[in-house]
Amino acid sequence: MKMSEQTTGHTATDVHSYARPTEAVARHLDLDITVDFDTQTLHGTATYTIENLTGTDHIIFDTRQLAIEKVYEGSDMQETTFSLGLEDPVLGQPLIIAVQPATTRLTIKYRTLPGAAAVQWLPPQQTAGKVLPFLFTQSQAILARTWIPIQDSPGIRITYNARVKVPPVLLAVMSAENPQEKNNTGEYTFRMQQPIPSYLMALAVGDLQFRSLGPKTGIYAEPATLDAAAYEFAEMSQMLTAAEKIYGTYRWDRYDLLVLPPAFPFGGMENPRLTFVTPTVLASDRSLTSLIAHELAHSWSGNLVTNGTWNDFWLNEGFTVYFERRIMEELYGKDYADMLEVLGYQDLQHTIQELGPASEDTCLKLDLVGRDPDEGLTEIAYEKGNFFLLHIEQAVGREQFDAFVNKYFNTFAFQSTTTDLFLNFLEKELIKWDKELATQINVDGWIFSPGLPADVIKPTSSRFASVEKTFREWNAGKPASQLNTGSWSSHEWLHFLRMLPDTMSPQQMAELDAAFQFTSSKNSEVLAAWLLHAIHNKYTSAQEALETFLVNVGRRKFLVPIYKALLATPEGKERALAIYAQARPHYHAVASVTLDELVK
Ligand code: BES
Ligand code: ZN
Repeated sequence: MKMSEQTTGHTATDVHSYARPTEAVARHLDLDITVDFDTQTLHGTATYTIENLTGTDHIIFDTRQLAIEKVYEGSDMQETTFSLGLEDPVLGQPLIIAVQPATTRLTIKYRTLPGAAAVQWLPPQQTAGKVLPFLFTQSQAILARTWIPIQDSPGIRITYNARVKVPPVLLAVMSAENPQEKNNTGEYTFRMQQPIPSYLMALAVGDLQFRSLGPKTGIYAEPATLDAAAYEFAEMSQMLTAAEKIYGTYRWDRYDLLVLPPAFPFGGMENPRLTFVTPTVLASDRSLTSLIAHELAHSWSGNLVTNGTWNDFWLNEGFTVYFERRIMEELYGKDYADMLEVLGYQDLQHTIQELGPASEDTCLKLDLVGRDPDEGLTEIAYEKGNFFLLHIEQAVGREQFDAFVNKYFNTFAFQSTTTDLFLNFLEKELIKWDKELATQINVDGWIFSPGLPADVIKPTSSRFASVEKTFREWNAGKPASQLNTGSWSSHEWLHFLRMLPDTMSPQQMAELDAAFQFTSSKNSEVLAAWLLHAIHNKYTSAQEALETFLVNVGRRKFLVPIYKALLATPEGKERALAIYAQARPHYHAVASVTLDELVK
């Protein structure tokens, strides 16, 4: 590898960014913005330290839904010329700024336009406290450009400082060194000293309080949610220790969580130093914490070693799922991790069925040219990626595989990699030109072929075997109320719910509900799985719970299957459209973009 490739990570072009980082590249950002809840805009300046690598006369940034007001050059702020290129609905517009070969500093004055897709402005009613508004951003995959003019490619890294002005009753937090309490000026400063890709830029503003959960970990949440969150995530510190035991030193100093309002469109988002997490994991029994293990694992796979383009997304998510399960195994034992593997395998089979086993989108290496990356980023990257890594682990043994992965993380730390770079590294460090091992690992079958290779490990779970036994007892006529379910976690319930037949009688539905209170379950995973059965079986007692759920919860993973199930029948479709009309304003753009497609 040449030196220049060492420092920029890789040379693959990113079809989802207008930037040309091999010509002129941003290295550092000083962001200075005001958060204006009245006009629902962010406005201010983004000052970049840039490097002109080829002596080019311009540098290109990505923008979308931004108004660029002025651009200045140098510390004496000389106004400089810029232009905006043609607009693409997904990619936005290139911002082309004139520079000199010696230019090192540019200041872009800008504001967000209404509807800027990364940003969600929540009215008080959508918060836990119901009194103050809330704002959060979601930048992955290519939405950072809708709130900051930026070279929005995961192959480019910047450090950043920020100054953010908010209404003094609110606290601002970012993917950076964070304040732990409010001040009365409403002005907060942030520092991210490790270079990060743009999709990890994040901001949230709300009535937030901090609670420490250990020397390096803590939680930010609204006061009304803080106790529940502190209970749910009490094991965070042990998780961090377990992770470090497996993959080596945590490189980001602190690891905190921010609990968002239920409109947050994802389960979690691995913003460095501050994972953003949905409140739907607050199950009161710590049974959904593998999601935290997942986001924590991204501190290595993703944030430290980053997919260079969205075609290599499996490098982020596949490794992360693998590590998530390793953390859970370390903390709660193999029996526990096995349940997660089985559920993951079921999800994988389901996704392959949905996409079609011959679909190119079921390859690990994707080709997303001309498409919104958001469409192509499916469960395949997560679970097929994970099962590929399990397959390699099985071929070489855990000890050797761990050493390999540790070396991979250390070699590519704070850089981006691509599938090709990973494969070179695999050859050099693990396969070592052993033909038999290469055949066994079967890179072609896993990475470049659709579907699932026949040699995939089929996971089994002893705890699920006992669920299956219980299920058969019910199926053979034993009353639900007499089933032995006392010790079940969310995962066992989920497995049970997935085993239930598609078609059940009203009596069966009512019996299950009376015995297990599914309709009033406070566990979002259980409730979402139950609601699917309620829809298929026209179980009217769950109608109100269904509507409440769809109007309050913005997590796309739950919304999509529920709306799909409703849309499958004419009466259901009518209800879906009525509920969607009411609920849509409550959803983040990444959810409504997906749902708009479904309901149209
Ligand atoms: N980084 C992802 C979320 C993401 C992926 C956002 C692609 C935008 C584009 C995050 O780490 C994630 O995978 N979240 C999952 C939870 C996880 C336990 C599978 C989610 O939100 O459901
Ligand atoms: Zn992830």
